[in-house]
Amino acid sequence: MKIEELKERFLELYGLNEEKIHIYFAPGRVNLIGEHTDYNGGYVFPCALTFGTYLLVRKNGTIKVNFATTNFDHRVEVMLNEPFTRDGKSWANYPLGIMNELRKRALETEGIDLLYSGDIPNGAGLSSSASIEMVTITALNDLFGFGLDKMEMVKLGQKAENEFVGVNCGIMDQFASGMGEANHALFLNCETLDYKKVPVILNGIKIVISNTNKRRGLADSKYNERRSQCEAAVEKINKKEPIRNLGELSVKEFSYLSDSITDETVKRRAKHVVTENDRTLKAIAALNNGDIEEFGKLMNASHDSLRDDYEVTGKELDILVNEARKIPGTIGSRMTGAGFGGCTVSLVKEDSIEEFIREVGNNYENKTGLIPEFYIAEPGDGAKKIGVL
Ligand code: GLA
Repeated sequence: MKIEELKERFLELYGLNEEKIHIYFAPGRVNLIGEHTDYNGGYVFPCALTFGTYLLVRKNGTIKVNFATTNFDHRVEVMLNEPFTRDGKSWANYPLGIMNELRKRALETEGIDLLYSGDIPNGAGLSSSASIEMVTITALNDLFGFGLDKMEMVKLGQKAENEFVGVNCGIMDQFASGMGEANHALFLNCETLDYKKVPVILNGIKIVISNTNKRRGLADSKYNERRSQCEAAVEKINKKEPIRNLGELSVKEFSYLSDSITDETVKRRAKHVVTENDRTLKAIAALNNGDIEEFGKLMNASHDSLRDDYEVTGKELDILVNEARKIPGTIGSRMTGAGFGGCTVSLVKEDSIEEFIREVGNNYENKTGLIPEFYIAEPGDGAKKIGVL
């Protein structure tokens, strides 16, 4: 929806008052490599997208907060003199979680009317939820002068999702949505939170996102299960050598410590994390050397490890990736995000993109009965204010 249409919708919902309407935006993200490493203190390499969530917000002079979105009919109202409670499985838990975290820090808002509008597919693994969190915190921080810096907002977003929504996610999505920069990807050390913005202007090559259009059923519980398995691996390794998390281990160190993990499944989970961390470091080095072919090979290896060792891909993602790799102009292709459905990310030569979309689209549909969608991603800016109406 265009801003003018959003304004109209806002006024239809909430009417006029003398306060100004403020507009903010926060993007979704695509992760290029470094998957399921963030909550293991490892490296990730995501970039923010140019699509995400818009938010129109205005003070209403009451103690009521009204949430609405153009994406679902469900609306929610809360009173500021009452505790914030979870609203079933509703989208409003993301902004409510943010308000709840602010309240824990004694940062209270006034009554406000909010209208969200996302142009990012929901449940596609492109962080629509982090974009809602980051647009909310960015707006409230600005409107009420809370004085939080970007990194504090990123951490608060992650906490809201962990504690209010109940998904034990790492920091990658909120970080990418909050800190992104046009034409750059973010090389983040999730243990220290040190990061570097790396230019990703790839000559003659585009980042293509392919959506399986497979809903991610049970993804949250499987995600939390993977996280517990990693913790179990750390506990076992700790008996031999003290470590805080798997991200500390090189492939070589892991090879002599992995004996202490007796459960074969847990061992494979840990192996994915350690090798993925190594691939991420190698991928950054390859990019710095201008060796995009090597970067693509590491993306392929990342997917294979997520399929065989971490087991978070599934039939649809595997087919999409296999079909993508058959196109000669594909440099590399892998699932992106949590997995269990959602999207893949591929690097594709510009002059092969038409063929890619046609061939991968047809073959995927024939094999799965699902119609995929394709988006050409341009790395975009992180959460920001767009203006005042
Ligand atoms: C989800 C989580 C992230 C990260 C990825 C997997 O997107 O929100 O924190 O763990 O999965 O890399």
